[in-house]
Amino acid sequence: MSYSRGIPVKSMRPLFFYLSLLFAGHLHAQDGGQLYATYCSACHGPDGKGVPAANSPPLSESPWVAGPPDRAVKVVLHGLEGPVEILGKSYNLTMPPQGAVLPDDVVAAILTYVRSSFGNAESAVSADLVKSIRAATSNREKAWSAPEILKLHPLPKEPSALKNLISRTYFGNWRDQPDFSTLTSANVEEEHDGIISLDQATKRGEHFGMVWEADFEAEKDGDYEFYFDADDGGRVVINGKRIAEIKGLGPMNGSRSKTVKVTLAKGLHPIRIEYYEVTQNDGIQLGWKGPGMKTFKWVSKDTASNTKKWKEILLTPKDRPIIYRNFIAGSTARAIGVGFPGGVNLVWSADNLGPALVWKGDFIDAGRHWTDRGQGNQEPAGKTVVKLSDKRLLPDDAVFKGFVLDSAGNPAFRIEIGDQILTDAWERGEKDTLIRTLTLNGGPAKLPFLLNSLPPGDRLRISGTQDGVRGTAGRHEVELNPGQPRRVFYSFAP
Ligand code: HEC
Repeated sequence: MSYSRGIPVKSMRPLFFYLSLLFAGHLHAQDGGQLYATYCSACHGPDGKGVPAANSPPLSESPWVAGPPDRAVKVVLHGLEGPVEILGKSYNLTMPPQGAVLPDDVVAAILTYVRSSFGNAESAVSADLVKSIRAATSNREKAWSAPEILKLHPLPKEPSALKNLISRTYFGNWRDQPDFSTLTSANVEEEHDGIISLDQATKRGEHFGMVWEADFEAEKDGDYEFYFDADDGGRVVINGKRIAEIKGLGPMNGSRSKTVKVTLAKGLHPIRIEYYEVTQNDGIQLGWKGPGMKTFKWVSKDTASNTKKWKEILLTPKDRPIIYRNFIAGSTARAIGVGFPGGVNLVWSADNLGPALVWKGDFIDAGRHWTDRGQGNQEPAGKTVVKLSDKRLLPDDAVFKGFVLDSAGNPAFRIEIGDQILTDAWERGEKDTLIRTLTLNGGPAKLPFLLNSLPPGDRLRISGTQDGVRGTAGRHEVELNPGQPRRVFYSFAP
């Protein structure tokens, strides 16, 4: 090489090396586009937007293409088939495997092109990476299913629309929306992921409320839709205006959810979400949809799409009481629900040998148990639920002996206490009143009897015909004499 004579070889090498790299890189990018046109665009479209006629999915701004490239490499090598949701649209097709046809550097060039075109802005993919993924998955014969590959390579999380999110946790027993401004929070947390969850409360205790404050970022001017659901209640306030509220006790199954439209200007809007739990089950869902968006984006850990929906099957007593035996939220495992015609209801606990809950309004939505194989607790469907006791009210030797129904269908629960039998009969009285008749038979001994262990609050009055019912600090007692029935009235405030 005469032309190189006199020039130190050492200094030539880096220059060539550098130039050849530049050149190769340039070629590569062009190749990627051409290779894409050859191998992918028939199905994914020349612009990466999919082919509407074939209903094939887009690669443009697809989260499947974003983040670490492993997911897309595996899809190209082995194919993808079965139901999958891409950018809010459902597909159920088959992408044939390309691994046998396309060598590592071609897969790398195509994916580098896809990840930097069509509005995507992701890092390049090297042939070495493709090579190592190919080697690691060499046993694979089937195409991937979406759940299978997403478990290995979850889609990247989009930034939440809730900025500067702060959560406050409160503890207390509420049956309806508390005024959080008068309460002291047990915990304050900055939630950097911008996602609402009950984790801060559930790891600290039971019977809680939470309040979140954040700035909701509207991407553009226009109409926004919010979806809100909670178990039990809560509200959403944007720009100081209450836009949605769910009151009292009830399930989070979409039956009480609120969907509301709000017009927002591009920018940040103060948002406050309040939540409170009444009994056992808990949950909150908040989603939003901006102008032109087809699906909700979720700012809560739980989303409505992963909540099982069941059809409402409201049990409504017509002329006879309905007895419903199943798990009922707020009671114990052996709960017996009784819905009386006219809308007064009872849950009697065979574990605690007494009433657990009384409420007025709708009885029970049995849809969950009847369509979802009895998973989980059923919740009373009515609004005014009063919890009367959460522990055993009778001596240890008391044993539940079943119940009988009278000719009108009213239940009488039977309890054996030593050589005495206690009958606890229930029927509906006038207006919103339940009448309980307690009869002790056998033995000479009187029985001091606790009617409830929890204060009934101001919505329910507990009284008796005789002056036998004593009430102190929310505990009501009655003394039972053998052979002398005692009547007790549970009256709901109008
Ligand atoms: C014969 C049609 C066909 C060809 C050719 C094809 N794909 Fe696909 N691709 C599909 C279909 C259909 C799906 C969705 C499969 C499903 O419904 O489970 C898909 C899914 C994908 C996905 C995941 C979902 C998404 O939209 O982001 C990626 C990434 C992808 N293909 C990349 C490519 C690349 C890169 C090529 C070229 C090397 C290619 N595909 C070639 C049909 C094809």
